[in-house]
Amino acid sequence: MGVDRVFVTRRIPDEGLDLLRPVCAVDLWDDDLPPPADVLRERVRGAAGLLCLLTDPVDEALLDAAGPGLRVVSQMAVGVDNIELAACTRRGIPVGHTPGVLTETTADLAVALLLAAARRLPEAQAAVRAGEWTTWKPLWLAGRDVHGSTVGIVGLGRIGRAVARRLRGFGCRILYTGPRPVPEADEVGARFVELEELLRRSDFVTLHCPLTPQTRHLIDERALALMKPTAILVNTSRGAVVDPDALHRALASGRIAAAALDVTDPEPLPPDHPLLALPNCLVVPHIGSASVATRTRMAVMAAENLLAGLRGEPLRHCANPEVYRPPKHPPR
Ligand code: DGY
Repeated sequence: MGVDRVFVTRRIPDEGLDLLRPVCAVDLWDDDLPPPADVLRERVRGAAGLLCLLTDPVDEALLDAAGPGLRVVSQMAVGVDNIELAACTRRGIPVGHTPGVLTETTADLAVALLLAAARRLPEAQAAVRAGEWTTWKPLWLAGRDVHGSTVGIVGLGRIGRAVARRLRGFGCRILYTGPRPVPEADEVGARFVELEELLRRSDFVTLHCPLTPQTRHLIDERALALMKPTAILVNTSRGAVVDPDALHRALASGRIAAAALDVTDPEPLPPDHPLLALPNCLVVPHIGSASVATRTRMAVMAAENLLAGLRGEPLRHCANPEVYRPPKHPPR
C-alpha cells in the first residue's frame, strides 16, 4: 500500500507539518492566501486527508471532487461553519477541529478590544500622530469606564467564560445569554438573562457564540436598538453574527457608542468599506488566536487529528462525533 497523500491548504507552523511529513506525502499549498476554488478541488482529488482553514469551503461539491478515498478532514480552527458537517458525517468522514488551545489567547484579545474601544485608544493614537495633542484637555477623548460596568456575554462557552474570569478582575457584573443556562456560569459569577434583557442592561456586549442558522445576524437592527446609546459591541466570534449594515447605521447615527471587531462580514473587509470610515469602529483582521504559541498548538492539534483519522482511530477533537455512532434504522 502506498503512502497516504494529504492536502494542506496553507502555510502553517512547521511543528504541525513536521508531524505529518514522516508518515504521509504532504501536498502543501505553500502560500498565505487560500487556494482558488478550482485549485482546491483539483488538489483534494484522491487525497486521503485534508488539513484546511476556516476560509476553505468544505461542501458536497468539494467532497465529491475529493472522491471516496478521503478519510478525514482536519481544520486548524475551533469554528467549523465553513464545513458542511452533515455531508461529512453522511460519508463517514470525521472532522477535526482545535478547541481549548486557543481559549485564553482569544479571550485576551476580546478584553483588549473591549478596553481599547472603551478608552478610545485608536482615536487617541491617530490624534497624537496627526499632531492634534496640543495640551491636556478635560473633555478630549473621554471614554467609558470598564471597571464596575455591566458586561453582557453572548455565548458562555470556553471563550466566553475566559472573558468573564478576566472581567471579574475589573469588578464587572457579568450577564450572559445563550440557548440555555450553563452549569459552569457560577464558577465565573455570570447570571443568565434573555438576550433582550442583556442588550438593554449591558454597557459592553461581547459575542462568543458559534455561527449557526440561529445566530446569523443575531445582532441586527432590532437588537442594536435595544442597546444603551453608551454601549460598546465587541465581536471575536464570527462576522456574520452581526448584520454589518445595521451596525454601520447604529454607529454612524450614535445609536450605540462604538464597536470593536476582530471578525467581519465579509472577510477581509475591503479598505473602502463604510465601517472603516467610522472613528468609533475598531477593526482588526481576525487575529483572536494569533499568538505564536497558540498558532503552534493549533497546527499540532490539527496534524494530530489528521493522523488519527488516517489511522482509522477516533479523533480526540471531533466536530461531528455522530460520525462514530451506528446509523439509526427505523423500527420494523
Ligand atoms: C477559530 O479557531 O475558529 C478562530 O476563529 C481562529 O482561530
